[in-house]
Amino acid sequence: MTDAHLKVFRGNPGEEGRFEDFAVPVEEGMVVLDALHWIQGHEAPDLAVRWNCKAAKCGSCSAEVDGRPSLTCKTRLSDFDLEQPITVEPMRAFPLIRDLVTDVSWNYEVNKTIQPFTPPDDVAQEDWRWQQQDIERVQEYRKCIECFLCQDVCHVLRNHETEKPFMGPRFLVRAAGLEMHPIDQADRRGYLKDSGGIGYCNITKCCTDVCPEHIRITDNAIIPLKERVVDAYYDPIQWAWRKLRGRGPDAGVGVELPVLQGSPPPTDHDTPD
Ligand code: SF4
Ligand code: SF4
Ligand code: FES
Repeated sequence: MTDAHLKVFRGNPGEEGRFEDFAVPVEEGMVVLDALHWIQGHEAPDLAVRWNCKAAKCGSCSAEVDGRPSLTCKTRLSDFDLEQPITVEPMRAFPLIRDLVTDVSWNYEVNKTIQPFTPPDDVAQEDWRWQQQDIERVQEYRKCIECFLCQDVCHVLRNHETEKPFMGPRFLVRAAGLEMHPIDQADRRGYLKDSGGIGYCNITKCCTDVCPEHIRITDNAIIPLKERVVDAYYDPIQWAWRKLRGRGPDAGVGVELPVLQGSPPPTDHDTPD
């Protein structure tokens, strides 16, 4: 039986951390999460790994495998050259809790700053009407499993390089689903520009590349939102029309996003973005 050689990050916050080597017997169909479970079962019972569904649907087993943000339950060992070691380390963008587990709670705080679905006050729910194509468009955004791999790969969040916080691609996806909902009445464009930091995104598409749900994050969420923000704030005709007519309340303008405190572990890899 062939062995896979895994180099797994071990460490706690405030420590330097280290990579430990494990030789894992490979069986057909094995994924990286299986190998981590084998390590827990045979060699390192205290290895911290987060997972739930093992079906690529809960979004909790996110880590960096050979430097690429990945779901460990969806990443097959057969996709690697088993002559070479496979590194497994925690997501770099978020503070470390232990070993492969990071604290992603910052994301939930950002989520709370987005104005939720806001239907009209004066139309009863049974009278809401929309086209099938509108529903199909917003369904793509609802496929998100909150794995935060897109947040992890985004160089803006990963390198903590901005003066102000940036909401990140996952929450631009959520905002797109609300802004493009045919029944929603709120106008989040001011929030996206000032609080969400949409201008920090330079459309590198790395977030789209790692999304396990194949959401076309940049093409179908970020670019249309950027266009809406530009229309509202930088096109003088649109700006004047909006002032005259309005679309809905400015939702979330002035809200401050929490600051993401990262504690990137040591790594052999450059930023993949
Ligand atoms: S396109 Fe690039 S910069 Fe923009 S959100 Fe995605 S990863 Fe970040
Ligand atoms: S948009 Fe895709 S990559 Fe980002 S959190 Fe959702 S499922 Fe994960
Ligand atoms: S364990 Fe649920 S997505 Fe991997």
